[in-house]
Amino acid sequence: MRFPWSFISPALIALAPLALSCRTAPAPSPPTSSAPPAVESAASDPASVRPEIWPVVENPIPPDPRLERRVDEIVGRMSLEEKVGQVVQASITHVSPDDVKRYHLGSVLNGGGGWPGDVRKATPADWLARADAYHQASVDPAGGRVAIPVVWGTDAVHGHNNIVGATLFPHNIGLGAMRNPELIRRIGEVTAREMRTTGIDWNFSPTVAVARDDRWGRTYESWSEDPEIVRAYAREMILGLQGVPGTAGFLGRGKVIATAKHFIGDGGTAGGKDQGDARASETELRQVHSAGYVGAIGAGAQAVMASFSSWQGVKVHGNRGLLTEVLKRRMGFEGLLVGDWNAHGQVPGCTNSSCARAINAGIDMFMVPEDWKALWESTLAQVRSGEIARERLDDAVRRIVRVKLRAGLFEAGKPSSRPLAGEFALLGAAPHRAVARQAVRESLVLLKNDGNVLPLPPGRHILVAGDGANDVGKQCGGWTLTWQGDGNRNSDFPGASSIWEGIRERVEAAGGTAVLSESGGFDRRPDAAIVVFGEDPYAEFSGDRANLVYDGEADLAILRRLQQAGVPVISVFLSGRPLWVNPHLNASDAFVAAWLPGTEGDGVAEMLFTDPDGRVRHDFRGKLSFSWPRHPTQLVLNRGDASYDPLFPYGYGLTYADRVELPELPTDLSGVATARSDVFFAGGAVAPWELFVADAAGRVRAGSVPVTSPRGAVSLRPVDRGVQEGGREARWSGGQVGGVFLAAEPPADFTRESNGNLAFALEVLVGRPPTRPVSLEMGCGEGCGGEVDLTRLLRSLPPGQWTSLRVRLRCFEEAGADMGRIDVPMHLATDGLLTLSFAEVRLAPATDAEAACPP
Ligand code: BGC
Ligand code: BGC
Repeated sequence: MRFPWSFISPALIALAPLALSCRTAPAPSPPTSSAPPAVESAASDPASVRPEIWPVVENPIPPDPRLERRVDEIVGRMSLEEKVGQVVQASITHVSPDDVKRYHLGSVLNGGGGWPGDVRKATPADWLARADAYHQASVDPAGGRVAIPVVWGTDAVHGHNNIVGATLFPHNIGLGAMRNPELIRRIGEVTAREMRTTGIDWNFSPTVAVARDDRWGRTYESWSEDPEIVRAYAREMILGLQGVPGTAGFLGRGKVIATAKHFIGDGGTAGGKDQGDARASETELRQVHSAGYVGAIGAGAQAVMASFSSWQGVKVHGNRGLLTEVLKRRMGFEGLLVGDWNAHGQVPGCTNSSCARAINAGIDMFMVPEDWKALWESTLAQVRSGEIARERLDDAVRRIVRVKLRAGLFEAGKPSSRPLAGEFALLGAAPHRAVARQAVRESLVLLKNDGNVLPLPPGRHILVAGDGANDVGKQCGGWTLTWQGDGNRNSDFPGASSIWEGIRERVEAAGGTAVLSESGGFDRRPDAAIVVFGEDPYAEFSGDRANLVYDGEADLAILRRLQQAGVPVISVFLSGRPLWVNPHLNASDAFVAAWLPGTEGDGVAEMLFTDPDGRVRHDFRGKLSFSWPRHPTQLVLNRGDASYDPLFPYGYGLTYADRVELPELPTDLSGVATARSDVFFAGGAVAPWELFVADAAGRVRAGSVPVTSPRGAVSLRPVDRGVQEGGREARWSGGQVGGVFLAAEPPADFTRESNGNLAFALEVLVGRPPTRPVSLEMGCGEGCGGEVDLTRLLRSLPPGQWTSLRVRLRCFEEAGADMGRIDVPMHLATDGLLTLSFAEVRLAPATDAEAACPP
């Protein structure tokens, strides 16, 4: 294997004591790793789409000449600066009320994990106060010629999920299994009401993606792999959030503006890659991926969000044919088209702070969280120079003002004075939770029930195991209080119930006994065991996978132990998608796909037991809206495929009355692609990454340990962490430079991860604190790299204790690393004494505490 890391190490030898220039060898430049210049396919030319093959959707909103006159009148009075301000949406973390006033900004948003004042536990009252502050600034008479109320957008994608105490519903994949459009409308109604209490006007929901490759990290945001459900649900969700067009309730009391996203083809990217490229034909794009927009526009959706992804190699944000000719002209969408998070910056020739092409293609509002001021300035200049036509800007502003007028924002007063505002008792109110609990019950799909072990009589001795049993955060998945849904504890969900809590209550009420033992151990032999396990929370690209094999070895061990002890085993599987779980199915008597049920864990418990008198209260009615793989190599598996051979087909789902015995399933894993570039070390280097130790005399591969660098500057030996030999202890002997690094070729592209604020995360234990500067570098080929100084951080860590050390990718980027071609994700070096153990090394979400780069 040709390795892009030659070890001549002039830089190592030349290491200046304080400069920390630990860049080792100028590596030969990686094989054409930088992105090739984007080639524009014909699809960017509106002539290449055929609008006439797309559906025409009837606008359900009755014409309103008076409103249109007001739009004309308002837009007619606006200055150019005010107009440009309307098309800009900035993040509350980066924009102050005063900025909103000075730049006449049309909108603010909070991203996942964006909280008022950056306070994670911000109270609902804090949110409302913040909404007031932005609103008041936007309508301040001193602010400009025309007072246009600002609109605040949030991702309330499974309930008002950024707010502590809100009702959180199952994620969309679970809702798809319900096959209950009427309940979808009620979920929309509840979500809108809870949003209203905090004064937020606009929901970036529903996601109407039709996910076709379940490796995609957003599969759980999709209702189904099939357009049929998506069309029907999109309609009902829009009606629930916004109200019914043509009635007084439309965008009235307790309603919010809804957004169908992400137009178009987000669920159809090659390999299920987030923000990837959909290579479908135009016909397939229309037949499969447009269904949600037909439903949504037909129900009066006031906003659509454009997709980060590309179609046939061209970024949707720059595709005038799709955005203007198809969506606006042909399908008749007359609301506002908002961009996605800096997605305009990915259009060739654009940056986050300048992108005439996106607005020219049809984007009406830029989602530009951080660089909004520079974008405001460049857009203004582009309108002045004619690069953006004034008519296009006017059209965008008219759309925005029209939506604001329809939503009543001009008359509504400040957010806290609007209906339901401040009625915080509505957050997580009992009737709302009842809707969620019903959704949980109806979303569960019974995949296996050998010997009809379910339903269980409650009056017995029940063992509850698995790391998902008593973890509300895990039940909720991503987009929950934080963007990735990580770092949540049960105490962050007042009023919620874990699955364990639901089970205990049920069992004890019937005179039985229930015990919780995560690892499945027991003293008293249980009559049955319920084991709850599955995927840990993730969002967007962090959830992208190389394959669909559920890698839950520890869970499998629990199931097998119980099975061997002759205890009936009921598996409750938490996941954002169907995964290949044949070994786990084999080791279970019953298996329930519970998806990501949200805050109402007792809804799961309700489905597993009869009433105390033996009567069945709730039978399973969930049916798969995604096909379940039989083989680990079935990566793209959808109803209607030519050689469709799932383990459980689309529509599958047992009821208690069904008597089906599932035969022993094959568990052969050969042929499964495992490449994952975002985990670098876990027990050993994770392929394709390899671990090395080095000093001025050269490098040595550290595949097996112990190992020492040629001149003895640094050595590695195994240490136990989690599992036996799960970590490595690195010991620097001082007096010369030594390095420990991970490398691979070809280089990996971490630009999306960096844009998404991910961090380089290293589990470390400091044995002997550093006596000299220590650097951590990310390398990107010859003469390319960015390093941070870890000295202070390492000295501040509690010695002898495992901790997680995180440095944002952005810090390396700012220091010069090119995230598009990382061949050395980690290079730790020092010329002093240091003993440092490390275990798991990976990319992980960063928290606020890691916001600053090490000094
Ligand atoms: C935000 C998310 C956003 C993402 C975009 C995160 O920092 O919190 O809301 O979707 O960045 O990559
Ligand atoms: C996501 C959108 C979301 C936005 C704001 C983006 O990264 O793709 O779905 O609405 O962030 O959080």
